[in-house]
Amino acid sequence: MRHGTTGRALAAVLALTATTLAGCAGPTGQASTDLVGVAMPTTTSDRWIADGDNVSAQLEALGHTVDLEYAENDVPTQVAQLRAMIKAGADVLIVAAIDGTKLKDVLAEAAAADIPVIAYDRLIRDSPDVDYYATFDNARVGVQQATTLLQGLGVLDGTGAPTGVAGPFAVELFAGSSDDNNATVFYDGAMSVLQPYLDSGVLVVPSGQTDFASIATQGWSGETAATRMTTLLPAYDGTGLRLDGILSPYDGISIALLKATASLGYGTAEQPWPVVTGQDAEVASIKSIIAGEQYATVYKDTRQLAEVTVSMVEAVLAGDEPETNDVTSYDNGVVIVPAYLLTSQVVTKNNYQQVLVDSGYYTQEDLA
Ligand code: BGC
Repeated sequence: MRHGTTGRALAAVLALTATTLAGCAGPTGQASTDLVGVAMPTTTSDRWIADGDNVSAQLEALGHTVDLEYAENDVPTQVAQLRAMIKAGADVLIVAAIDGTKLKDVLAEAAAADIPVIAYDRLIRDSPDVDYYATFDNARVGVQQATTLLQGLGVLDGTGAPTGVAGPFAVELFAGSSDDNNATVFYDGAMSVLQPYLDSGVLVVPSGQTDFASIATQGWSGETAATRMTTLLPAYDGTGLRLDGILSPYDGISIALLKATASLGYGTAEQPWPVVTGQDAEVASIKSIIAGEQYATVYKDTRQLAEVTVSMVEAVLAGDEPETNDVTSYDNGVVIVPAYLLTSQVVTKNNYQQVLVDSGYYTQEDLA
């Protein structure tokens, strides 16, 4: 809620302002009073705050009125927010789902009111009422996470070529929330890289937990992941193995796992940090990477995702077909949703400056 356009009164003022300033609102010189509903999952992660801010700013710069709402990972709250947007006469809905399977009914109401729906970052499943999908190449994110795990361990070199190191390296695997379609796509991408090394014994998973159901983390919760970690590590006692690496799907989980391993004796000269992966290039993780703790993250430029989504909004409002670049991969169980996939980038201590600071995503002070 904290970023929401609080109440219709403010929205009315904004609409009035847009009308009064006719000619200043958009590149066409046409002031717009279109209402765009933006439903985001949570403010507990930097990335979703950046997403909401970027989408709103870009829409408002084009003269649209925005109702931005956060549901704090509570599905009924997100459904209620969408229902309120429909009732308020939204012209388009942008939705980053909490549980991609729970929006069927409310999206049927949107369809009945002729409101186009754009799935943002996360695929909305089991509904015919999803028009477009703006996201990153999620399978590639998983490939990048697994590749950085192997690079941190020295199994692959900087170019991604095998070094011939035999291991065995002990690793544990963590996945995202099973109600988020992205989580399985990240996992499948990661396993496509890791499986051959698990088969050959270069990697071992002492807990034995490698299937998605065993390693999923409900709600992408760092706390839940850390609790699971503390139940896994005592099994290493007396085996002669140390935890060499962790496949972590998201920076919030990575930071929690680093803390958990520290409480179990890691992060010292005798017992160095395990190689820990991540996603989202969140500030806490970049600081951790700079400090030599987290090994890598996968950066997804939320400014680009906002741009793609906003251009989809502009196209549907104009009655045009938005640009897409993948019309086959994202079958939501009912329809294949035409998607625009962006490209993510690996960030380590070696390139954070160039990728994140030189590009203006963060300032040096943000990371101090
Ligand atoms: C997003 C990731 C994010 C995760 C947890 C996923 O759907 O694609 O970027 O790390 O949710 O918020």
